[in-house]
Parts: sequence; C-alpha cells; structure tokens
Amino acid sequence: MKRLENKVAIITGSGAGIGKAIATRYAEEGAKIVIADFNEEALQTTVEELKSAGHEAIGVVVNVAVEEDIAKMVSETVSNFGRVDILVNNAGVGDNMQAAENVKDETWQRVMDINVTGVMRGLRQIIPVFLKNGGGTIVNMASIAGLTGGRGGLAYTAAKHAVVGMTKNIASQYGPQNIRCNAIAPAHIETGFAAAMTNVDQFGLEVATRGVNLMPKAGTVQDISNIAVFLASDESAYINGVALAADAGWSAY
Ligand SMILES: NC(=O)c1ccc[n+]([C@@H]2O[C@H](COP(=O)([O-])OP(=O)(O)OC[C@H]3O[C@@H](n4cnc5c(N)ncnc54)[C@H](O)[C@@H]3O)[C@@H](O)[C@H]2O)c1
Repeated sequence: MKRLENKVAIITGSGAGIGKAIATRYAEEGAKIVIADFNEEALQTTVEELKSAGHEAIGVVVNVAVEEDIAKMVSETVSNFGRVDILVNNAGVGDNMQAAENVKDETWQRVMDINVTGVMRGLRQIIPVFLKNGGGTIVNMASIAGLTGGRGGLAYTAAKHAVVGMTKNIASQYGPQNIRCNAIAPAHIETGFAAAMTNVDQFGLEVATRGVNLMPKAGTVQDISNIAVFLASDESAYINGVALAADAGWSAY
C-alpha cells in the first residue's frame, strides 16, 4: 500500500518549485491531487504532467490572498473528489531582502497578503471540512527565516514567524479533534524563488547571507517533498505543531 493511498491533497503554489515537487510525490504515493496556483500556464502544465503519468489531478486557479479563490479551491476539491484529507499551504513570495530601514509598504503588504493572510484563509476554510471529516492534516511551508532572525528581510522574517505561530495554534487548539498541523522550515532550495526577487536590497542581502558558508549545502525540492510526504502520512501521527528545520544542520550552529 502506498503512503498516501486514496488521500485527497490540495497543494497551493504547486505550479512550480517546491509545491510542484510535493504534488508529484504525493501523486506517486497514491493521492488525488489539486494543483492550486495563480500562474495558469504553470498550473495546466503540472496537471497535464500528472495526468499523463497516470495520476488523478485537477487544477484550480487560485490567488491564496483572495478569500473567494480559497473557498472555490476547497469546494471544487470536494465536488471532484468527495473529500479533502491534506492541505499544503505552500504558496509564498519573497521580500527582496528589504532590511528594516528599507521596507517598502507595497512589499510589506504583498508579503503579508500572500504569506500570512493566504495561510490564514487556507486554515479558516479547511478546518470546518476536516472537522466534518473527523480529521485531516495540514503542512505549512515556513522557512528558516521563521525560526531565526536574520536570514531574510524584515517582512519575510515576520511572515514566516507568523506561519510557525499559526502552525502551533492549530495543533494546540484542534489536535484533540484529529487535526494535525506541522511546518517545514527550509534553508536554501534551488527553485525560481530567489530569481523572482527584483531590486534586491544590497544591505539586507549582505547581512542575511553572513555566515552562509556554514551551510553545508543547498537543498533540493526532493529533500522537501520527502519531508512533506512524511508529515502528511500516518507515519507522523504522533507529531503535531512542529516547525521542522530542513537545512542540513545550518541553524543548529
Ligand atoms: N526556495 C527556497 O529557498 C525557500 C526556502 C524557504 C522557504 N521557501 C518557501 O517555500 C514556498 C515555495 O517556494 P518555491 O521556492 O517553490 O517558490 P517558487 O517561486 O519556485 O514557486 C512558488 C509557486 O507559488 C505560486 N504562487 C505565488 N504566489 C501565489 C499566490 N498568491 N497564489 C497562488 N499561487 C502563488 C507561484 O506561481 C509559483 O508557482 C514559499 O512559501 C517559500 O517562502 C522557499
């Protein structure tokens, strides 16, 4: 039996990068997949790739910052697959490494809208579904910037700390009702994420990368999808409310 046999999983930001790798692994482990992304082209490509590999998958165009989109994501999943077992709140954006003195209001707002409010909207919509189901599993994508202070700009650091806080809040308050919520906190993973940053704050970049030579190596999307399978499956049944550093020991320094 596969590790996620017959489970139904929604993964946000799964048209590319870490989210796409998680969706692919979950499908290989037997899950039915909902690709939720605001990049329609990337979303369609991912859905087609999964289907042509023999997996069950649908796509829903979703901006996680928009409540109606999240509601549609959940309702379309239920109408297509009858239930939801797993939600991965993965969609997120960077803050161009803006240090406190250089934070731009529009950057702050975008990071909060997507990385914090987007996660809250996912949680708010999925909890009633999980309560009705008798339980469910949530995996939030935090960052090493959610566990340490100086590895990102101010907005990204604040946002990822909020993701860790929400993770613990859900685990604490809904754990007794068979809902598990854990987070993954990756260091540097090679995706399009860093390249998507523009006008990078030079001071912010310089201070956030101090000591980066102590990181044994960058990670791969497979490193993260392996952890995401474990946290979604019953193998981690006794784990709730953790933010697991995925950084080859970097933050253990
Ligand atoms: N790459 C890293 O080094 C790294 C490290 C730590 C944490 N993370 C976190 O991992 C997550 C995924 O990052 P990635 O590296 O795969 O990034 P990526 O840029 O490669 O992929 C992100 C995906 O999310 C989608 N997305 C962005 N905003 C969205 C929105 N509002 N609604 C719906 N979809 C949206 C994009 O279209 C894209 O398909 C993010 O939350 C990021 O903060 C990444």
